[in-house]
Amino acid sequence: MRRMSYAIPTQPRAVRYHATGKPEEVLHFEALPFTSPCADDEVVVLLEMAVVHPSDLGMVGGTYGRLRTLPAVAGREGTGRVAFAGAAVTTLKPGDRVRMPEDEGVWREAVIAKASALRSVPTDIPAEQACMAFINPPTALLVLQEFVALQPGDWIIQNAANSAVGECVIQLARAHGLHTVNLVRSSEKHARHLKALGADLVLADDKDALKALAGALQRQAPRLALNSVGGPSAITLTRALGDNGVLVTFGGMTSEAIRFPTREFIFKNITYRGFWMDRWARTAKAEALQGVLETVFARLRDGSLHMAVDSVYPLEDFAAALARAGAYGRSGKVLLRGPGAVHT
Ligand SMILES: NC(=O)c1ccc[n+]([C@@H]2O[C@H](COP(=O)([O-])OP(=O)(O)OC[C@H]3O[C@@H](n4cnc5c(N)ncnc54)[C@H](OP(=O)(O)O)[C@@H]3O)[C@@H](O)[C@H]2O)c1
Repeated sequence: MRRMSYAIPTQPRAVRYHATGKPEEVLHFEALPFTSPCADDEVVVLLEMAVVHPSDLGMVGGTYGRLRTLPAVAGREGTGRVAFAGAAVTTLKPGDRVRMPEDEGVWREAVIAKASALRSVPTDIPAEQACMAFINPPTALLVLQEFVALQPGDWIIQNAANSAVGECVIQLARAHGLHTVNLVRSSEKHARHLKALGADLVLADDKDALKALAGALQRQAPRLALNSVGGPSAITLTRALGDNGVLVTFGGMTSEAIRFPTREFIFKNITYRGFWMDRWARTAKAEALQGVLETVFARLRDGSLHMAVDSVYPLEDFAAALARAGAYGRSGKVLLRGPGAVHT
């Protein structure tokens, strides 16, 4: 038996839902059935840090592309610390950082899992960045490389540019010599920060965006448009694209349908594509996913990729965290801190 350096809660609690619905109505902090110590090939993992994503709320609300069997624990992304390793476990030891298993639900104080099923995460990356490594940065990396063979000097355009994905896109694009046009709801609020990350242009996502863009870009139309908003914003992106441009949709923050402008669709031979990280991760070769994560870890470690954090709440204050996550004007991600964040 290994020496334990973390206090394992005797009755771990989790943010659970027994029916899909509005998160503020269906989520409750409940004790979980839990048997510790674990089996010889298992480990006990304590939540270190988790993220609140729009898709977490979609999953709880019943609108996401993949739903959990109920009752379920909410939350998709986060890291944990191994608090106890069974006698036969050779790959992990107490103190090691792992990705919290997604399918079981992440917003929980502790989980028991087979050591072989867990993904190790480097400990030399700050917890507040490491916990966000698995969904948004890989999405940004993949939408930049899977759809158009972009060359240094090419332009791309995106909306919701101040989102976590948007900020990753700016930083990764800059690192590859690409230029970015970034549409945001409030350019006064976000321009300075996004330009510091490497954004070339930051424009208000309104009816004047195309005019402003035409003046700024002249003949170099974007080859790739990244849409996570929908509605009129997606039309602006489509109109901004050059001939044979590709618009990739990976989010729908307005919940408004994407309608395509017929002229551009026909005369510029525009292509519309969709991207879902979840599907990519489940269908990609293990080495491909590991390669993407290694790239992300390396950039988080050297600081060339950084995601803004708005606030950190203790897990039990999840209701306040969700209210903050849904509030207009936050600047970065809302995180949930678990008992694995404090080394005892
Ligand atoms: N398909 C995939 O695999 C995949 C993977 C990762 C993320 N996503 C999607 O990508 C999007 C961004 O995710 P994230 O985690 O990076 O988001 P985030 O950091 O939480 O940021 C949310 C963004 O959405 C904007 N927004 C919110 N409500 C809006 C509205 N009604 N109209 C226009 N913009 C609005 C926000 O702008 P303000 O700051 O102005 O409020 C902000 O830019 C989400 O739709 C998410 O579901 C998809």
